[in-house]
Amino acid sequence: MCGLITNSAATHSRAVSALVFITLFHFLISVSTAATRQELARGFRASPDMVVRSFQPLLNDPTGNFSLGFLRVQETQLAVVILHVASSETIWTVNLTTLPAWTDRALLRFDGGFVLSDADGRVVWSTDTAGDRAVLLNSSNLQIQLARDPPVVLWQSFDFPADTLVENQNFSSEMVLISSNRAYSARLGADFIGLYAEFNEGRSQIYYRHRALQAKAQVIPGGGPIHLQLHSDGYLGMYQNGSVPVDLQAFNTFQKPANGFLRLRLDTDGNLRGFYWEGSKWDLVYEAISEQCELPSPCGSYGLCEPGAGCSCLNNRTVYTSGQCIPADSGDFCGSGVAKKDFWVMRRSGVELPFKELMSYRTGFTKDQCESFCETNCSCWGSLYYNATGFCYLVDYPVRTVVAVADGTKTGYFKVRQAPSRAKLKVGLEIGLGILAGIVGIAVMILGFASYRQWRRRRGIGRFFEDDDGSVSPGPYKDLGSASFKSIEMGSGFVR
Ligand SMILES: *[C@@H]1O[C@H](CO)[C@@H](O)[C@H](O)[C@H]1NC(C)=O
Ligand SMILES: *[C@@H]1O[C@H](CO)[C@@H](O)[C@H](O)[C@H]1NC(C)=O
Ligand SMILES: *[C@@H]1O[C@H](CO)[C@@H](O)[C@H](O)[C@H]1NC(C)=O
Ligand SMILES: *[C@@H]1O[C@H](CO)[C@@H](O)[C@H](O)[C@H]1NC(C)=O
Ligand SMILES: *[C@@H]1O[C@H](CO)[C@@H](O)[C@H](O)[C@H]1NC(C)=O
Ligand SMILES: *[C@@H]1O[C@H](CO)[C@@H](O)[C@H](O)[C@H]1NC(C)=O
Ligand SMILES: *[C@@H]1O[C@H](CO)[C@@H](O)[C@H](O)[C@H]1NC(C)=O
Repeated sequence: MCGLITNSAATHSRAVSALVFITLFHFLISVSTAATRQELARGFRASPDMVVRSFQPLLNDPTGNFSLGFLRVQETQLAVVILHVASSETIWTVNLTTLPAWTDRALLRFDGGFVLSDADGRVVWSTDTAGDRAVLLNSSNLQIQLARDPPVVLWQSFDFPADTLVENQNFSSEMVLISSNRAYSARLGADFIGLYAEFNEGRSQIYYRHRALQAKAQVIPGGGPIHLQLHSDGYLGMYQNGSVPVDLQAFNTFQKPANGFLRLRLDTDGNLRGFYWEGSKWDLVYEAISEQCELPSPCGSYGLCEPGAGCSCLNNRTVYTSGQCIPADSGDFCGSGVAKKDFWVMRRSGVELPFKELMSYRTGFTKDQCESFCETNCSCWGSLYYNATGFCYLVDYPVRTVVAVADGTKTGYFKVRQAPSRAKLKVGLEIGLGILAGIVGIAVMILGFASYRQWRRRRGIGRFFEDDDGSVSPGPYKDLGSASFKSIEMGSGFVR
């Protein structure tokens, strides 16, 4: 009898799974570009279509490779993006710290310039231009032009990159790339490109710097700002004035016959990566930081990265799970009410900072002096001391990942905020709510397609909910789980 029930449940599972799959396929069918226009004239109006689950194209480039449109982010939010159609990869996005809701009352207008307003009619983005038309070039550059011969460009998306640069796009010293999680940024200095982490509100910490090698041309001090360009021949060139690069970073496609398409993205882990479209997928062809442990925070807060071995926790009594050891805190140890006793101290030997050569340090300290210097300074989160050189590095941001080294005389002193349990609880609650929301979403979808009564008769709805601990998941939950993850992932390439 037991076998009979299992069997019918499995059949039912398969039916539901097929239904769900078909539904999701329709949901995720990325872009129907057929009837999309190639030019927007004054008077253009568009609102999100409530039926669209992923992307709503508004304007295509002549090749159909790229499309400007509305992207539905995490089900409920609206982003205006340029997509690489074949891969659904976001190439550009309107820079918004908070995304408006996906509702048909949101509106994108073009009356010489783009104006995006939310459900309440509040303007959340505008280009402030008086052009004649908007076009999307085959380079993925969105331009607002005056219809002259040749056209006059009043505004272009290439001047406002998000986290991505594409082939032939110029990156100047006024521009900044910001990772989609807003944790990292890339900027140019006088003769270098730097990557910065926003570990501490309003203060950024450089964690990668590549100076121009100046093999072919010299950077002339005071000779004007430098800029970068991603060259279709497979390199990232740095230029000052002329067309001779002061620096050239070769990608894997360098000097190989290639007619694909390159893009460079500042990823959510803080790495700068180059990708090459070979016609059906993106190949990784460049990575600024090749060692995982050299990334700004590969193991999260109070994590320990061991080259070749991966992540663990600074506190050896904490087990490394789900990307971090102790939830990142914000705010320093200064201010009223926050005194010395509001943190406890963790010490560990055989550790160093991943980008110590970019950190400032003090010399002539003993280990004790180095520690007490940090202890008494409320804007210090930790200190690292190198006995051999007497260097004392001060960490002026909430402690992230440090690197394990064999040299036991390199020691670390780390402040940990008291009562981590409450923060942990909050994270747990968030994850719980996330899972719950996911389950509710899944349930709603299934209920929409399997008749409610039939569903209820065959197996209790309660059963479905009970399964969420993953122990005895029936088929459809798993399938749906991974499929809906995909759609979340697509969205999570975005501003939170
Ligand atoms: C995006 O907007 C934020 C806040 O308005 C601003 O600080 C940042 O510089 C902008 N980023 C770009 C790439 O323009
Ligand atoms: C893109 O457009 C430019 C100028 O309009 C043209 O020269 C070039 O061949 C086009 N490239 C592709 C791949 O269509
Ligand atoms: C990039 O900069 C170069 C030199 O300043 C210029 O010739 C070129 O037109 C620019 N490209 C774009 C796409 O703006
Ligand atoms: C653009 O479209 C052409 C023709 O379909 C294709 O061969 C090429 O790979 C596409 N390029 C990109 C970057 O998608
Ligand atoms: C954990 O670290 C402490 C202090 O660094 C050390 O004394 C202890 O032996 C370590 N325990 C384990 C299990 O590694
Ligand atoms: C630290 O350095 C001092 C002097 O440079 C040396 O005497 C001492 O043995 C070192 N301590 C360790 C633990 O290596
Ligand atoms: C406290 O530490 C911060 C960060 O390392 C540093 O900028 C500041 O000068 C220190 N304050 C004092 C009084 O030393």
